[in-house]
Amino acid sequence: MTTPFQALSAHHAATQPRTIAALFGDAGRAEAFSARHGEMLFDFSKTDLDATALALLLDLATTRDVAGRRAAMFAGEKINETEGRAVLHTALRNLDATVMVEGRDVMPEVRATLSRCADFARDVRAGRFIGQGGAITDVVNIGIGGSDLGPAMATLALAPFHDGPRVHFVSNVDGAHIHDVLHGLNPQTTLVIVASKTFTTIETMTNADTAKAWMAKAVANPAAQFAAVSTAADKTAAYGIDAARVFGFEDWVGGRYSMWGPIGLSLMLAVGPEDFQEFLNGGSDMDRHFRTAPFAQNLPVLLALVGIWHNQICGHATRAVLPYDQRLSRLPAYLQQLEMESNGKGVSMDGGDLPYHSGPVVWGEPGTNGQHAFYQLIHQGTRVVPCEFLVARQGHEPELAHQHLLLVSNCLAQSEALMRGRSLDEARALMAKKGLTGAELERQARHRVFPGNRPSTTLAYPQLTPFTLGQIIALYEHRVFVEGVILGINSYDQWGVELGKELALALQPILEGRQPASGKDGSTQQLVAYLRG
Ligand code: F6P
Repeated sequence: MTTPFQALSAHHAATQPRTIAALFGDAGRAEAFSARHGEMLFDFSKTDLDATALALLLDLATTRDVAGRRAAMFAGEKINETEGRAVLHTALRNLDATVMVEGRDVMPEVRATLSRCADFARDVRAGRFIGQGGAITDVVNIGIGGSDLGPAMATLALAPFHDGPRVHFVSNVDGAHIHDVLHGLNPQTTLVIVASKTFTTIETMTNADTAKAWMAKAVANPAAQFAAVSTAADKTAAYGIDAARVFGFEDWVGGRYSMWGPIGLSLMLAVGPEDFQEFLNGGSDMDRHFRTAPFAQNLPVLLALVGIWHNQICGHATRAVLPYDQRLSRLPAYLQQLEMESNGKGVSMDGGDLPYHSGPVVWGEPGTNGQHAFYQLIHQGTRVVPCEFLVARQGHEPELAHQHLLLVSNCLAQSEALMRGRSLDEARALMAKKGLTGAELERQARHRVFPGNRPSTTLAYPQLTPFTLGQIIALYEHRVFVEGVILGINSYDQWGVELGKELALALQPILEGRQPASGKDGSTQQLVAYLRG
């Protein structure tokens, strides 16, 4: 079977074995295998890519019509073909644009909703909208997946900009989650946002009911302290939430791409509408870059091409996302949904089997914590894990600049160590210095060898501000888009989450004892029997 990757695979095979370190024999390598946008630097020189591979990858982006698909997306064509929908989350941050969907400019409504969200956020923050016990002190966002991960990740990321009420997030249907979040909150001064695109998601609706019951014990009218963010106005009305506190959006915004609009209300309440606008400005800035920069300098395109190289060509099945920025600690979880729900598909757009692997497994934790946990495997395990480091030039705590320096030095040390490793001779010399000799020296030395030649990229940015965060998130969104186009899959549906939901519904009456488990497989029957106690 022919694939678009044959020339790249042949080139990769022909150039092995070689070391990334040796590629730095070219004095201009760091600059040639890096790209900048504004003050952001993407360095992919510590990978196995050479000029030929990069040229082939750039050709691939051209022949797979990334430019055409990009134009189609921004123009509002229905590129989400399996759901018959346009993909226009970019419209939420390019507020001056005209965006036609089915012959109608959707932007007046986008602007009007944003302005309603901003008015509401200002009212809450200024104490003009109050709870039944006074000014709102706490906001609880109830949502899951795209209605949780984006705002939760961003709210943590922008902690230095918080000057509104405390914002909490509940997602899991595990009652422990909502119990622990509501514990200690005052129902009379808490605002609950039910965030659900469909307003049918069982986890969210169950948690919303629990929050309503909790509030009903302390206030006369719990619904008055509820707001909703959804595309389903009929359902929010049926739930009893006043239309004045319902913020809608359209089905052309996918759940995992929705934090730029009303789903970002919780973030807006925490940082204020002005900083939220800065976040949008950062996203819009990255959109402009993505649409206009030549592919060879285009950050989203380059991130995607490096990803294709590592996953489809080199066969590395996973990618570690390692932010050396504690406030980005939810970024890996956010990217797991963004990337794996978008590009984890085995069927191509035309319905055929994908003749190569889908997108990679994405995982990670912030540095330096990960260093004291799973980096062992990254350095000395038998599988290669491409690493994606993120690091800011400057932190937000000038009095702790010495700690930031330590953080940065650790980040750079890791990518250097991954690339250069430590040879057996170097390990022997170390052991000899410790006074070991003979067979014991040899044995101990072998445990201290680092194979090296392990690829990594580094995204460096000035400081984690609302604008920079907007740039980073839009960068990753477009990277997912480009990878999806190259793989020929629909990045905007998520049929793979449906089967489990259906089976969970069918299991409920069995677990309640209202139906027999006899139709189930032996393992499920055994587990049902055990868990029913
Ligand atoms: O189950 C997956 C999913 O549909 C995600 O795509 C989505 O972000 C999440 O559930 C939540 O959906 P909703 O916002 O409709 O509650």
